[in-house]
Amino acid sequence: MRTQLTALALAASVLAAPATEILPRVSDAKVCDDVSKLCYSEYVAFSGVSYRIAIPDTATATAPYDIALSIVAPKAIGWAGIAWGGAMANNPLTLGWSNAATAIVSSRFTTGHTMPTAYTGASYTTLPSSKTNTTHWQLDVVCTGCSTWSGKTLDPGAAASLAFASSTTAPADPSNNASRFGIHNAKGKWSQDMSAAKLAGFATLVQAA
Ligand code: HEM
Ligand SMILES: *[C@@H]1O[C@H](CO)[C@@H](O)[C@H](O)[C@H]1NC(C)=O
Ligand SMILES: *[C@@H]1O[C@H](CO)[C@@H](O)[C@H](O)[C@H]1NC(C)=O
Repeated sequence: MRTQLTALALAASVLAAPATEILPRVSDAKVCDDVSKLCYSEYVAFSGVSYRIAIPDTATATAPYDIALSIVAPKAIGWAGIAWGGAMANNPLTLGWSNAATAIVSSRFTTGHTMPTAYTGASYTTLPSSKTNTTHWQLDVVCTGCSTWSGKTLDPGAAASLAFASSTTAPADPSNNASRFGIHNAKGKWSQDMSAAKLAGFATLVQAA
């Protein structure tokens, strides 16, 4: 009986949603990376891209703190990124894309709805767990400068409005982090509980990663 009900429920959900649709979700439990050993709070966008975030458990709203970001994307995704202030304009943008066997980060900013250009207010360490395999690319970075801009700091104890964007078209020159790229064909916002992204021993773990 139980099996029949489960089968019915499955059949109903398959009928209700096209096979390719991925429902956006925030994970309740942390997602840990086998290679870097870092554990993140995860948001999976409808585009199939996972945006994973970890911050120091010691972070306060009065000082900048580093943010570990992991973007895991199916290979069909040409570029994907996060807007740390929850909108395209006037906040640091962290973009990633596949480059040969690895993935690279591009630091961007824009004041409007035009192609974001290089942003020197944030700097990045790319972790060796970044990669491109047969099915996905994964960019693992630690950002200094993504938690603070224009005199305000992302409150590590509250819900933050974050935005994402991605495109199925790759940048013109994937080996160049300053490459031109085209407009997104997926974008959206979510509410990220920053305290859920807190990771004890952050600095030590990042060092070891
Ligand atoms: C060539 C690059 C880009 C172009 C030409 C572009 C253009 C636009 C335009 C015209 C809109 C408003 C119309 C619409 O809703 O579609 C928009 C909205 C948006 N874009 Fe972009 N975009 C680019 C890159 C990016 C990047 C890199 C991000 C984030 C990482 C981003 C995030 C967003 C978001 C979140 C919105 C929703 C409304 C808002 O927050 O302003 N965009 N973009
Ligand atoms: C590209 O990488 C170089 C070297 O790491 C860095 O100095 C520069 O700011 C980066 N540019 C962008 C747009 O991310
Ligand atoms: C490729 O990498 C992704 C992201 O880390 C992982 O989920 C997937 O299992 C890997 N695929 C293969 C074939 O190893």
